[in-house]
Amino acid sequence: MAQIVGAVTTSHVPAIGKAIFKQLQSEPYWKPFFDGFVKVRQWLESARPDVVVVFYNDHGLNFFLDKMPTFAVGAAPSYTNADEGWGIPTIPAFRGEQDLSWHLINRLVAADFDITTCQEMLVDHAFTLPMALLWPDQKWPVQVVPVCINTVQFPLPSAKRCYALGEQIGNAIRGWQSDKRVLILGTGGLSHQLEGERAGFINKSFDIQFMDSLTKDPKWATQWNSAELVEKAGTQGIELLMWLATRAALGDKAREVHRNYHIPISNTASGVMVMEPAA
Ligand code: DHB
Ligand code: FE
Repeated sequence: MAQIVGAVTTSHVPAIGKAIFKQLQSEPYWKPFFDGFVKVRQWLESARPDVVVVFYNDHGLNFFLDKMPTFAVGAAPSYTNADEGWGIPTIPAFRGEQDLSWHLINRLVAADFDITTCQEMLVDHAFTLPMALLWPDQKWPVQVVPVCINTVQFPLPSAKRCYALGEQIGNAIRGWQSDKRVLILGTGGLSHQLEGERAGFINKSFDIQFMDSLTKDPKWATQWNSAELVEKAGTQGIELLMWLATRAALGDKAREVHRNYHIPISNTASGVMVMEPAA
């Protein structure tokens, strides 16, 4: 059976793409952010994943406001990105793991999740930049399965529902007939709000409590509805739902291997965590 080797959760601010392109990793502004990924990459060398299941939210590249699935799972042979207007160069295509895609789709539908299945799918900065932080040479030694959660157009799925989705995906991966090693990657957050009266809003104490909760009390954030989470974390900070689904996929217990938290990157409180399943 397949094995989940661990999880990485990280912010996905578009400015990271420009910083990589311009090689600004050692500049004072960027160093505290990029330094947080050195340990992540060391951990990846021993975790040796073959496949990455990526929980992320599309921001209008593949799904626009006219058609917005709550949950979408990719089942394409390959995934490319495209110009989103942030000035990030496009990067090499990702190879899909279609056998795992269809296994997840079948298991999710059998468990009453009404997902959208995507046999063609563009992936945006929320997918590509975290992958580039994990594998800076962009030679992708892994295959991928994208799982998209709507956090851009209301109504949003609840934290409770996203947790249940993650649990189901974790169970399905552990029941997948394969000897492949699977990494779960969740991207978004932490607290940030890009528009309106609270533009620039960041909530450090909430972010820290949230990161702590993932190993100590993983369902902690599911006590709030979407509006309450937006109030605490900001309209885009609700992207923490990806972290929650990712954590849920690890199973009942998880231990923290590494974290970094830095304010601000662009308008965002940036965070990265590595977790492993625990007995
Ligand atoms: C920013 C953060 C995001 O999560 C995003 O998707 C776009 C922009 C930002 O802070 O600039
Ligand atoms: Fe975002």
